[in-house]
Amino acid sequence: MSFSAIIRNLCFCVFLFSGTCFSGSPLVGQIRPGFQASQMEWVDHNGRFLLSNNSAFSLGFYTGVDVTTFVLNIIHTNSSQAIWTADSSKSVSSSDKFVFDNNGNVYLKRGTDYLWYTGTAGEKVSAMQLLDSGNLVLRGQNEAIIWQSFGYPTDTLVSGQEFKEGMRLKSFPNSGDMSVYLEILSGDLILSAGYQNPQNFWSIKGDSRRSNASNSTFGNLYSVVLVSNSWNFYDQNNALLWQFVFSKNSNPNALWAAILGPNGMITFVNLQRGKSRTAEATRIPENSCSVLEYCKPYEICYFESWCQCPPALNGNCGSQHLSSCSLSDSSVDFAYIGEKLDYFALGFDTPSQTSTVNACIEACSYNCSCKVLLFNSSSGDCFLFDQIGNFQRSDPGLNGYVSYMKVSSTSGHEGSKNKKKHAVLIALITVATVALIAGLACVGFWYRQKKNSLVDYTQETLEDDNFLDSLSSMPIRFSYDDLTRATESFSSKIGKGGFGSVYRGVLADGTHLAVKKLEGVGQGMKEFKAEVSTIGCIHHVHLVKLKGFCAEGAHRLLAYEFMGKGSLDKWICKNSEASKILDWNTRFNIALGTAKGLAYLHEECEVKIIHCDIKPENVLLDDNFVAKVSDFGLAKLMSREESRVYTTLRGTRGYLAPEWIKNNPISEKSDVYSYGVVLLEIIGGRKNYDPAESSEKTLFPSYAFKMFEEGKPREILDPRLEFDENDERIVDAIKVALWCIQDEMHLRPPMTKVVQMLEGLCVVPHPPIPSQFGPQTSLSFYQWGNEDGTAIEIISRSSDAFLSEVQLSGPR
Ligand SMILES: *[C@@H]1O[C@H](CO)[C@@H](O)[C@H](O)[C@H]1NC(C)=O
Ligand SMILES: *[C@@H]1O[C@H](CO)[C@@H](O)[C@H](O)[C@H]1NC(C)=O
Ligand SMILES: *[C@@H]1O[C@H](CO)[C@@H](O)[C@H](O)[C@H]1NC(C)=O
Ligand SMILES: *[C@@H]1O[C@H](CO)[C@@H](O)[C@H](O)[C@H]1NC(C)=O
Ligand SMILES: *[C@@H]1O[C@H](CO)[C@@H](O)[C@H](O)[C@H]1NC(C)=O
Ligand SMILES: *[C@@H]1O[C@H](CO)[C@@H](O)[C@H](O)[C@H]1NC(C)=O
Repeated sequence: MSFSAIIRNLCFCVFLFSGTCFSGSPLVGQIRPGFQASQMEWVDHNGRFLLSNNSAFSLGFYTGVDVTTFVLNIIHTNSSQAIWTADSSKSVSSSDKFVFDNNGNVYLKRGTDYLWYTGTAGEKVSAMQLLDSGNLVLRGQNEAIIWQSFGYPTDTLVSGQEFKEGMRLKSFPNSGDMSVYLEILSGDLILSAGYQNPQNFWSIKGDSRRSNASNSTFGNLYSVVLVSNSWNFYDQNNALLWQFVFSKNSNPNALWAAILGPNGMITFVNLQRGKSRTAEATRIPENSCSVLEYCKPYEICYFESWCQCPPALNGNCGSQHLSSCSLSDSSVDFAYIGEKLDYFALGFDTPSQTSTVNACIEACSYNCSCKVLLFNSSSGDCFLFDQIGNFQRSDPGLNGYVSYMKVSSTSGHEGSKNKKKHAVLIALITVATVALIAGLACVGFWYRQKKNSLVDYTQETLEDDNFLDSLSSMPIRFSYDDLTRATESFSSKIGKGGFGSVYRGVLADGTHLAVKKLEGVGQGMKEFKAEVSTIGCIHHVHLVKLKGFCAEGAHRLLAYEFMGKGSLDKWICKNSEASKILDWNTRFNIALGTAKGLAYLHEECEVKIIHCDIKPENVLLDDNFVAKVSDFGLAKLMSREESRVYTTLRGTRGYLAPEWIKNNPISEKSDVYSYGVVLLEIIGGRKNYDPAESSEKTLFPSYAFKMFEEGKPREILDPRLEFDENDERIVDAIKVALWCIQDEMHLRPPMTKVVQMLEGLCVVPHPPIPSQFGPQTSLSFYQWGNEDGTAIEIISRSSDAFLSEVQLSGPR
């Protein structure tokens, strides 16, 4: 260490010491002219130098963007919530001064620069007080208030703080460096997004949740105050106009804060809950999709929390910076973003013109600042925007808006025709390639299988014995004799699963078992290893438990807990042999249990497990009709190259998600799809594909979408079922099923969300109806759902090899 550094450190220590001595404890209630403070002097008190009498609030320096910069603010101590900031855009260093000078002016000073000031010099200010309400005031003669922090709110309002015409809340800027503003304008309270041309997106007059005051003297809105659990709106004469109740907690002593967040949403927080505070569920605006930027610009916000970039933009959402004016007309093209869309600012905007969609596109192409247009085809309203946040889905029942976005294209409009030709060509090539790969995979698999069955497996057996012995906390290891005895020489066959037959067995101690005898050892060994090692340690009330296993010579057996009522398919099909039909409650609990079992596999297990073969045959029922998922863990070791082979062998036609067929990545969302089909079958009491039904009903998923769209959900229900008209779970379950079987993987909810929706813990939004009636559906599983079955023909024509493979897997 150099000499100068030692001196510097020494000085610093001395300075710190003297500072601490000098500052003592924070002042309480008020300070007098002549007071000065810096963060460094009050570092022992976290920079706080003035407390309110009740100690609830404090004024001081608070760490800003990083640990070396600070802002001057008022904080609610128990909750650490800042309720006011001098000027959040200006931060100070630890040695910059807060000064209350003898002229009565108050300011923050760095060198000779004033970073913030009250401008109250010469007003005979006698004291600065921090009131128990959190208001910081400058008192003049006769205790008059010369200046107050409540007059200059930042992004937060607290109980009792009056927000008046002329004031403005400004949120912290979001990641795109844009803020949202709250103001009283023309007798309304308005939220607006601070684009170059501000876009309003919420107003209290348009919010149906406000209630009118009994006193209907309708003046113009002038001020707003948080009173107990409601936001009260007053006119110039302080007569109550409206109320907005945001909490059930009406404790009059609660201290509420309304906070305008960077995402454009106002949340309400009870500060008295201190660190454990959480925002109330009631928010402004009501739907999180209708804030400025829940998602990135141009993304579509679904389901209150999901963001998806429209396919036309190829994942380029949020980064579209097209300067349209620098492009000549011939280089401008329009990308179709989608239909059934809505945009949060439309309700506050007037259309540029009313015309046809082509005229709307033309208006945008000749308007330099226009980048995006939204068009209502029933009214002809055409809206042009220069900047835009995220889209949202239109309300159910409305047709919504069509949207196009200006993009550059090098070859102009002829180019787009060529593009279409290209697209068709690419689609054809893709289909051919998929078919070829599927064919090769099939041949390859068949070859491997043949080869494997020739392998002398004694060596492998040894290896595997060691492998199994090395596993601790494993289920019981049975001998082959044990299981032969238990199953009376495999005499009572109760089913046939993916890897072999299942037999009923009883152990000497009376425990009932379902013993699965794996067949085709050459191929079964791998699956056996996978199954035992994975599922041995998984326990969940909605998953079938592995009780034990047997690995002896060529024998590979798994012993599961016995499920008294067998598999679900026996209970829901119309021509099932079951003695009774299941009532709605039982069906609902089966659906919920299955969802919980899957949610556990997907999200709570140590390793994420994708089941890959969800179907009624793999949902087993115990004596009390509690559902348990079986056959899981088999797909865990599946590698990407094998997955196509796996598909055709494992997944069962009718339950397969479209990505299996389209060769897109498989994820747990593929299980969600299969679950959705099973849920529909539970609700409808029929198979997803039933050629015995009338042509319209043959393919149940498409029929369900059609009936739901037409507002006839009862048509989807099992006609044999008795149910309570008022049971909301029925329509909710239908909606959940339709969400799960969305073609678009991102739209399907995660299983945990499915559980919550079924349990009624969150609202089930209206599911999107796939545009199978519309133009651009690609080769997808969903087309199997066409009423006339044409799509099946498409697949079989273009991909014979694939279809025959599907049939190979056959019924289980
Ligand atoms: C704080 O309490 C003291 C003593 O009760 C009182 O004189 C003073 O006015 C109070 N100050 C404020 C700002 O409430
Ligand atoms: C702060 O919290 C503590 C403990 O939770 C409580 O005892 C105290 O009354 C609270 N103070 C205020 C001013 O709310
Ligand atoms: C409040 O009063 C207005 C004007 O009378 C009326 O249009 C509106 O429906 C009322 N709103 C509610 C929630 O009662
Ligand atoms: C109704 O209006 C009168 C006169 O403006 C006022 O005195 C009274 O407090 C109001 N009542 C309510 C509930 O706001
Ligand atoms: C041009 O587009 C902007 C939005 O970018 C819109 O506000 C304006 O009204 C349009 N001008 C005309 C003449 O349509
Ligand atoms: C489109 O215009 C029609 C006719 O004015 C209107 O009823 C409908 O609500 C509009 N659609 C949307 C999504 O606003």
